Amino acid sequence: MTDLFENPVGLNGFEFIEFSAPERGLLEPVFETMGFERVASHRSKDVDLWRQGGINIITNYEPRSAAWYFAREHGPSACGMGFRVRDAKKAYDYLLQQGAEPIQVETGAMELHIPGIRGIGNSIIYLVDRYDEGGNELSIYDIDFEYLPGVERHPEGCGFKLIDHLTHNVYGGRMAYWAGYYEKLFNFREIKYFDIKGEYTGLTSQALTAPDGKIRIPLNEEGKSGGGQIEEFLRQYNGEGIQHIALICDDLVACWDRLKAKGVPFMTAPPGSYYDMLDGRLPGHGEPIEELRTRGILLDGTTEGNEPRLLLQIFAEPQIGPVFFEFIQRKGDYKDGFGEGNFKALFESIERDQVNRGVLEAEGAK
Ligand SMILES: [Fe+2]
Repeated sequence: MTDLFENPVGLNGFEFIEFSAPERGLLEPVFETMGFERVASHRSKDVDLWRQGGINIITNYEPRSAAWYFAREHGPSACGMGFRVRDAKKAYDYLLQQGAEPIQVETGAMELHIPGIRGIGNSIIYLVDRYDEGGNELSIYDIDFEYLPGVERHPEGCGFKLIDHLTHNVYGGRMAYWAGYYEKLFNFREIKYFDIKGEYTGLTSQALTAPDGKIRIPLNEEGKSGGGQIEEFLRQYNGEGIQHIALICDDLVACWDRLKAKGVPFMTAPPGSYYDMLDGRLPGHGEPIEELRTRGILLDGTTEGNEPRLLLQIFAEPQIGPVFFEFIQRKGDYKDGFGEGNFKALFESIERDQVNRGVLEAEGAK
């Protein structure tokens, strides 16, 4: 894939997301039920690699590491992420020139030095230039990790292939700061800015895309009225950070069945009226409504010009503190949406459901 615009550090997608927790046993069942398998352990640190398709997850329990301190402050959390770059040393030097804060990463004997900079909420962004894009290139895990004996190194899991995007929740008034951070350091650009209003609360979201077109980071800020879900997250998490991580697959209906069989707890499905209204909202979408309805899968995108460009999505309940996962499928080269149309559609469908049940009328008659 060619770059969308100038790519000064040679970004090329997410390499991994790093998690930590105050103790073992909190993260592992969550990853297992989503289809991840532990495939390798670090040679010298209390660090494991979990994998599914092209998605790498790191769990880090190394005492007195940045991840360890992070977990003491935030509880179970996503404490870092790795960006693939063309040349890690050059990228690091460039980022420091742009004002990034350097991070000391402890490196053992014979281990790779993976440079890092300070990211959101004291997390770390690692810069990785040895990665496997499916051609069996030597990756950081081949050098610093040991694969479990006989393990399938690239398990298919539940069928998820890549990290599509991950979002940050930021404190009120901090949107511009964090947008500026990604814009100045990595030349991210804003692709969408929108307000989402529920009945009582709302949020403002700004979607940023990296020049590689692969790393996408929407930022969320609490709406003006306050008291909503972003505020609640920030309080529970003890700060700003990664709110959710979206995993992409080629067939969400089939993958949902696998997730369900493994016991992933999904967020509450929308009322039936949401599906009754789908043909009106996205005429000619061509998706099997009953298949979506029975699973609670949401649909967004556009069917303008009779060309469906669609996002299928469903969320799991938060299981890593307030952090949660999203599962998606994109159709028709629909890259720039994150399901924002569903906020309004869900709200309207709940209202219609209330009308159907006579609740709204009853309220109005009081
Ligand atoms: Fe998302």
